[in-house]
Amino acid sequence: MRGREYMAVLQAVTEVMGEAVHIVDAAGKTILYNEAMAQLEKISVEDALGKSFRKVFSNIPEEESTLYQALVNRREIRNKQQTYLNIYGKQVTTINTTIPILVDDQVVAAMEVARDITEIKDMSDRILSLQDSRERSAGPDAGSGAGGEQGRPARSSGIRRYHFEDIIGEDPRFLQAVERAEKAAFNTAPVFIYGETGTGKELLAQSIHYGGNRQKSPFLAQNCAAIPESLLEGILFGTEKGGFTGAVDRAGLFEQANGGTLLLDEVSAMPYELQSKLLRVLQEKYIRRVGGSKDILVDVRIIATVNEDPRELIARGALRPDLYYRLNVIGITIPPLRERRADIPVLADRFVKKYNEEYGRQIWMIADPVLQKLAAYDFPGNVRELENIIMSAVSMAEDDHVLTERDISISPGYHQESEGFGGYTGAEGSLAEYLAGIEEKVIRHYLALNGGNITRTAKDLGMLRQNLQHKLKKYE
Ligand SMILES: Nc1ncnc2c1ncn2[C@@H]1O[C@H](COP(=O)(O)OP(=O)(O)OP(=O)(O)O)[C@@H](O)[C@H]1O
Ligand SMILES: [Mg+2]
Repeated sequence: MRGREYMAVLQAVTEVMGEAVHIVDAAGKTILYNEAMAQLEKISVEDALGKSFRKVFSNIPEEESTLYQALVNRREIRNKQQTYLNIYGKQVTTINTTIPILVDDQVVAAMEVARDITEIKDMSDRILSLQDSRERSAGPDAGSGAGGEQGRPARSSGIRRYHFEDIIGEDPRFLQAVERAEKAAFNTAPVFIYGETGTGKELLAQSIHYGGNRQKSPFLAQNCAAIPESLLEGILFGTEKGGFTGAVDRAGLFEQANGGTLLLDEVSAMPYELQSKLLRVLQEKYIRRVGGSKDILVDVRIIATVNEDPRELIARGALRPDLYYRLNVIGITIPPLRERRADIPVLADRFVKKYNEEYGRQIWMIADPVLQKLAAYDFPGNVRELENIIMSAVSMAEDDHVLTERDISISPGYHQESEGFGGYTGAEGSLAEYLAGIEEKVIRHYLALNGGNITRTAKDLGMLRQNLQHKLKKYE
């Protein structure tokens, strides 16, 4: 095959693979420039092909041009983001991999493969500006939830401020956890809280903040699992003009929480590399915005949480051990509710009082069979689930003053139906109907557990959010 034919093959390969490709020869002349690249850079193939790439991209300084670096300095650059203006003055942002191509140790060409990240960039912009406007409207004392559970200000309406007085419990292991939290309120060391979902991690974290001398400064919370990995860094550390996550300069959560506390939920969901960046920030107390070059001094107390055993998270490679040891200066473990059953009646009592007030009811007592039922239940959703059960019982109670068994709907009991073929006898209709019935029950249960939060419910059930939404429609 001759050179031109090789080139045609190469061109076809790159087109089919859908990546934008630009190849220059040793003299810097563009020998391959495919349609995808033309789309991305808004430069026509004819304008680029056969020309010196330094002329076509004359506005990129040599030291910033990845192609130039590959060609002249044999520098290989992988997954680097590049924001630049093309010859029409349009701003283009890409993630690039650029490599020199060597034959007999001579650079014969350089190749750049680029991925368009315009959509990612837009999404990040939107999240950060939502955060910004929320910060402005709520002021520095904004309670929790900057960024919100799904990357939007999910908890903006009900700013909950928990204090130690709000914490109910008698179990010795639980009280020990609270005691450690009380001590933590008097210093600024990092805190690491491990507890299953609904065990009260946020309750403790806020109590630490509002019970200590940082109470006048912001308390911000970010769930690391709720944000696409590529955006998290910009959200935590902020962005600078030209950096790929932001068209404008924006402070990240570290700067916004300065002087106060930043709660990082599900810290193990943070990409491994970002975890080491976080570790450096904890050690050095400086942050640098994405795309920025200035070190910014920050004073932020970090409270990190996980809902799985940290030892397992480390073994599985989800949590960096060095970060864990740095965060675990004050380590707090909250036992699940099923391991501190003594707390069930005390909590139930408190929630009855709380929802009496909220719903204008006068429930004075909980009937014994109800307490027995609660005592025997496993509470996979822990205190949050107990609270939801009592809430709906109080609002719907048939008797004026007593909560009875009829009022309590403890999960559908699907987890106890383990006899026979999952309880199917054939009298329930077709198998498909039966399975759909179970599916509906499970979904309703987890939805209630998560307080109607679809993202979390989908996560719990290991399904895509869109799938869950589809099913919700189906089951109304
Ligand atoms: N010991 C407790 N006393 C009173 N209320 C509690 C207690 N523990 C939890 N709660 C209540 O249960 C609910 C869940 O608590 P919280 O949001 O702190 O849990 P979490 O551990 O952060 O859960 P997740 O992992 O799902 O984020 C809240 O409404 C909280 O007020
Ligand atoms: Mg929480």
